[in-house]
Amino acid sequence: MTDKSANLVLGDKGVEFAVKSGTIGPDVIDIGSLYKQTGAFTYDPGFTSTASCESKITYIDGDAGVLLHRGYPIEQLAEHGDFLETCYLLLYGELPSAAQKKDFDYRVTHHTMVHEQMTRFFTGFRRDAHPMAVMCGCVGALSAFYHDSTDITDPHQRMVASLRMIAKMPTIAAMAYKYHVGQPFVYPKNDLDYASNFLHMCFAVPCEEFKVNPVLARAMDRIFILHADHEQNASTSTVRLAGSSGANPFACIAAGIACLWGPAHGGANEAALNMLAEIGSVDRIPEYVARAKDKNDPFRLMGFGHRVYKNYDPRAKIMQKTTHEVLAELGHKDDPMLQVAMELERIALTDEYFIEKKLYPNIDFYSGITLKAMGFPTTMFTVLFALARTVGWIAQWAEMIEDPQQRIGRPRQLYTGAPQRDYMPISKR
Ligand code: CMC
Repeated sequence: MTDKSANLVLGDKGVEFAVKSGTIGPDVIDIGSLYKQTGAFTYDPGFTSTASCESKITYIDGDAGVLLHRGYPIEQLAEHGDFLETCYLLLYGELPSAAQKKDFDYRVTHHTMVHEQMTRFFTGFRRDAHPMAVMCGCVGALSAFYHDSTDITDPHQRMVASLRMIAKMPTIAAMAYKYHVGQPFVYPKNDLDYASNFLHMCFAVPCEEFKVNPVLARAMDRIFILHADHEQNASTSTVRLAGSSGANPFACIAAGIACLWGPAHGGANEAALNMLAEIGSVDRIPEYVARAKDKNDPFRLMGFGHRVYKNYDPRAKIMQKTTHEVLAELGHKDDPMLQVAMELERIALTDEYFIEKKLYPNIDFYSGITLKAMGFPTTMFTVLFALARTVGWIAQWAEMIEDPQQRIGRPRQLYTGAPQRDYMPISKR
């Protein structure tokens, strides 16, 4: 709470609201009593000015291009740590000691297998099903397999469910991939680290030895770190809203996956790569830039712009470096798609339209090119985002459950439909 207050005059009535300050970032006006005091609601479609909760997990300064997890800059976590360390940080609030890290890694590693009957779920889907459709179904189904961790009032069960999801998501994602390409499922290997194990489950086949390339494993791990959490975005808000009713965590994460699928959110990396493929060559870029600027054309440059970042997305900068490392390792440096991406980035960063609207490349712009080079089909891109974001969703869900102020989320509306009227028998209509 601050000693500042906000005053609202509505008709002839003046109302005062308390103003709360966070550690950093904008103050918020606590309008919780607005309806009681005035009989009016606030109206904010898309929640552009609405803080939906109090949180200690992630902070974004979109104007400065800053992203902090529990206070630590994303650049430092991506440069010096690994994904499971970031998971620990998001879940528990502090970086682990060496012993804590060892124990956490062990617990995650030893929960990576899924119930054998889960394989039947996969085989029930059509082979050509989008892997995100498979993910929504299979992750939602986890609550039917792990009953012993669905009591959300028990802190121990909550933590078991959290570890299970972080541990099993790569296995489920890899199974979705294997089913999609018609290859046998590959079981997790406990002597591999989190990212290497995932690559092994995706790309190994029973008929030959598969050695994980350490450069690709490091890139995969970094992609996971960069996607781990992003405060109250659409899918995280979906998870919180689903969880606010008391739904079990597996069901809530399935809801988050469904929301992430959309092209304005997690589906943008797939859409960005499809767009680069459609542009095809550098000489066609001006045509697409002109379309993006044309008010009468719904086309948008996918991978550009962000609701919160009005500066370079800090994750995009790290991702750009990782993209170059992966393409150099795989000998794809002259990849025409990368040439198109680099030129598009150059034009957009110098073009008046993009500068004025503060449209910078976002993380999805680079992650798609990297994942493609690593051998993933575009349909898997959002699945990998979901895998990495699971820890963020689960940390935010747990924070909400533990918040004494937590109540079911129930937004109100401005009703503009028909006023009350009488039913007319069908013969008289
Ligand atoms: N290309 C061309 N013009 C754009 C773009 C774009 N990618 N993004 C926004 N604009 C324009 C838009 O037309 C509008 O112009 P005007 O003010 O003249 O009407 C202005 O910029 C503001 O756009 P907005 O739609 O009001 O902004 P928003 O905050 O609602 O949308 C966004 C943010 C990310 C949905 C949008 O920028 C977009 O659709 N980008 C492409 C999809 C994409 O890359 N999404 C990934 C987001 S990052 C990953 C994640 O967090 O999930």
